[in-house]
Amino acid sequence: MNSRLDKLPPYYFVQLENKKKHIEKEGVKVYDFSIGDPDLSPPAKLIDFLRDELGKEVNNYSSTRGERRLRESFAQWYRTRYGVTLDPEKEMTMCVGTKEGIFHLPLALCDQGDVAIIPEPYYPVYLSATTLAGCNQYFLSMREENKFLLEFDSVPQEVLKKAKFIYVNYPNNPTSAVANESFYKSLIEWAQRNNIIIAQDAAYQDVIYDRKPISIMQFEGAKDIAVEFYSFSKLFNITGWRLGFAIGNEKIVSALHKVKSNADSGQYMGIQNAVARFLPISSSFLAEQQSTYKRRRQTFYSYLKIAGYQYFDSVGTFYVWWKLPKDIKSADFADKMLTSNRILVIPGSAFGPAGEGYVRAALTCPEEDIRRALENLKS
Ligand SMILES: Cc1ncc(COP(=O)(O)O)c(C=O)c1O
Repeated sequence: MNSRLDKLPPYYFVQLENKKKHIEKEGVKVYDFSIGDPDLSPPAKLIDFLRDELGKEVNNYSSTRGERRLRESFAQWYRTRYGVTLDPEKEMTMCVGTKEGIFHLPLALCDQGDVAIIPEPYYPVYLSATTLAGCNQYFLSMREENKFLLEFDSVPQEVLKKAKFIYVNYPNNPTSAVANESFYKSLIEWAQRNNIIIAQDAAYQDVIYDRKPISIMQFEGAKDIAVEFYSFSKLFNITGWRLGFAIGNEKIVSALHKVKSNADSGQYMGIQNAVARFLPISSSFLAEQQSTYKRRRQTFYSYLKIAGYQYFDSVGTFYVWWKLPKDIKSADFADKMLTSNRILVIPGSAFGPAGEGYVRAALTCPEEDIRRALENLKS
């Protein structure tokens, strides 16, 4: 076996699923706040479009950059929503889910031994992608004292000299932190000064309430140095459809596309066409969905408050970053929650040591379940 593979911890969610199954076998209902896989349905119109596509001749290999129709529709969406112009030929490539693009990026950017800067707590794919690509990793902790915004100025000079790129992820999984304009401006300025590529993971960019979504691409200089991964998974509740984009700097996008064109052969054209058709009419669906998540979040927060817990108060993602009392290990707390309260959450330590002291709850359950689960918590 590849020795780099041995360095990877088992994918945490697999272990979790086993634990859940074990308890459910005894006929007990588990309130599952673990995985960020929406319980909500995709928009009805999007399903209609896909049904319609099924009857067409769209069964061959598709363009690995994404069908032209989808790229144009997505470019239009970006222009309208973010005021950003993207060249569909050069500045975008489709991903078979952004996980795929995020995973392949280090292969496109790094030679063996180059350094990748990884925010911690992290989406586990940053760890596996850079490990398997043979990168060295520098973990940059995000601290609550700084609202979980990356303190990139603290990266030491000797790391900066060897660093090729940094993963950035706002709105953030798992902390739910949201970055503001001044953060992006100084990040770009720092990256330019140090010649470091920014890989902004925007999986939750439009899962945000009471605030205008921001794309890094809106800021001056971003296209010189950054690539953004934009996902349709959580946006339209189609995590299984596997569709997203890498957009931004032409050279980075091309390098990624070169890797991808050797690794995948695009996505089913029917899915691409359906999304291309739905994007221009998606805003009312999104507004309604955002208010659902907002209500769920308020409910979750209110129960935590009553039970005397603290949390990171946020307006983005569908995660609650739940702070634990001192001296309780997050894995022990999560185990206890499951066995005593039948509540499944993810220990913060599953996202790296900097996640210790917290657990993550995904608001991917109906509000009724949140109420029932957290009533138990109170007692
Ligand atoms: C932070 C983050 N990035 C990327 C992804 C990947 O999303 P997808 O591959 O479905 O686009 C996820 C999925 O959970 C995520 O949480």
